[in-house]
Amino acid sequence: PRVGVIVVAAGSGSRLGADAPKAFVGLDGHTMLRHALRGVFDGPTAQVVIVVPRGREGDARTDALEAAGDRRDLVTVVTGGDSRQASVAAGLAALWGDVEVVLVHDAARALTPAAVFARVADAVANGRGAVLPVLPVVDTIKQVDGDAVAAAVDRDVLAAAQTPQGFRRDILDTAYRVADRDYTDDAALVAAAGHQVFTVAGDPLAFKITTPADLERARAVLTPRTT
Ligand code: C5P
Repeated sequence: PRVGVIVVAAGSGSRLGADAPKAFVGLDGHTMLRHALRGVFDGPTAQVVIVVPRGREGDARTDALEAAGDRRDLVTVVTGGDSRQASVAAGLAALWGDVEVVLVHDAARALTPAAVFARVADAVANGRGAVLPVLPVVDTIKQVDGDAVAAAVDRDVLAAAQTPQGFRRDILDTAYRVADRDYTDDAALVAAAGHQVFTVAGDPLAFKITTPADLERARAVLTPRTT
């Protein structure tokens, strides 16, 4: 396929306080990874590279084969690294030769709808080299210095970054090759390599599951309402 999706799921999830690596924590009957893969496989046809902690490759393959339906042949599972960036690099190394558009997605954004994958992939296909899904910032944001407020920040010029982030493959490959430090997301790494990053609309359901409260929110979203 022309599109490759790298799903990074190799984090420990220490802030979640669970007894399994985060992507393998259950939300309902299914793991976080399995939910994340549902959005991926309902999106554009793509090679799907799943990056997991050492020792979890078999579990990931089981989840992936369940979620993939008739796209089973498009699944690749690889072992991640010590940082998110190292895990993405491991995913990049496993992409097939024909892939030209790469989407990088956090398994921790497990409820991301398929439409976001389509929106990001379309924007790259239509000529954007680097694409970031964003949401407007609803909180009033302050710049602080210790416990003092240093300045107000106009939220109209701010946006909250989500995943999947999409890139022309050559741009992402080169940016990873020249990266000389860890960045918090791929858009920042690609911007540091000198590329303009463009935004598309994200989705509230693409929130990142980091804390126990996020886990509760995800479980609530998945629970059918009875009243
Ligand atoms: O830790 P954080 O929530 O920022 O991680 C974001 C995503 O990166 C998660 O999906 C996590 O599994 C992944 N990750 C990874 N390898 C690491 C650290 C994080 O794949 N070493």
